[in-house]
Amino acid sequence: MRQNLVAGNWKMNLTYPEGQALVTELVTLAGPAVAAPGAPVVVLCVPFPYLAGIKQHLPESGFHLGAQNCHQKESGAFTGEVSARMLASVGCEYVILGHSERRQYFHETDDLLAQKLKAALAAGLKPIFCVGESLETREADETFDYIGKQLADGLFHLSNEEFAQVVVAYEPIWAIGTGRTATSAQAQEVHAFIRERIARAYDAEAALNTTILYGGSANAQNAKELFSQPDVDGGLIGGASLKAADFTTIIESF
Ligand code: G3P
Repeated sequence: MRQNLVAGNWKMNLTYPEGQALVTELVTLAGPAVAAPGAPVVVLCVPFPYLAGIKQHLPESGFHLGAQNCHQKESGAFTGEVSARMLASVGCEYVILGHSERRQYFHETDDLLAQKLKAALAAGLKPIFCVGESLETREADETFDYIGKQLADGLFHLSNEEFAQVVVAYEPIWAIGTGRTATSAQAQEVHAFIRERIARAYDAEAALNTTILYGGSANAQNAKELFSQPDVDGGLIGGASLKAADFTTIIESF
């Protein structure tokens, strides 16, 4: 179901006490906005060790717990890994899959991500599936081909019912952590392309009902313009999600 949604991706930042302090401040600053009618869904995607503890700090409504990855198997001898079922068992509702940093540093392929999607959905989690091109790909005018392949190879194998649980995030790699945000026109163009490919792979209703987030140096200053675009339904926020005041402003930017 299409919703206004803001997800904070803490990545590998904050100690647990710092994370607890951030959530306490965030609940104070953003609590009223998040509890208001028509408020966006707010998801905090925190490091694995913090999940159960942070869950206890979240109010009953409005704030949702997310993770930043999961293994593709349900259980087994995979030392150091975390399964989707484990995430669900501590109250996690969302999981980021296919983030460019995992594709780059951990060599996650579209085929592996297709398996992770199935595992996440089987555990009842809502995947936030990331796509996005490098600067070289954009400058070669190959953005649409590249993202179209990520969608086709990684995402478009799900049933209609499974796909309805998915959130898509467009994160141009050249905008992540660089301060070089995509223009709202660039974001809108790619989001509209993603929605058109969803319509082609599934149907028009599925395309209209899919939440598509923008990520890549989104911040308190540019969120309102980005979120005003017709096919931008919110943001997947990195650095700006680590500061309660900035993240609150982003949440209030719809
Ligand atoms: O997953 C969101 C992240 O990749 C964006 O990072 O710091 O550019 O907002 P940032």
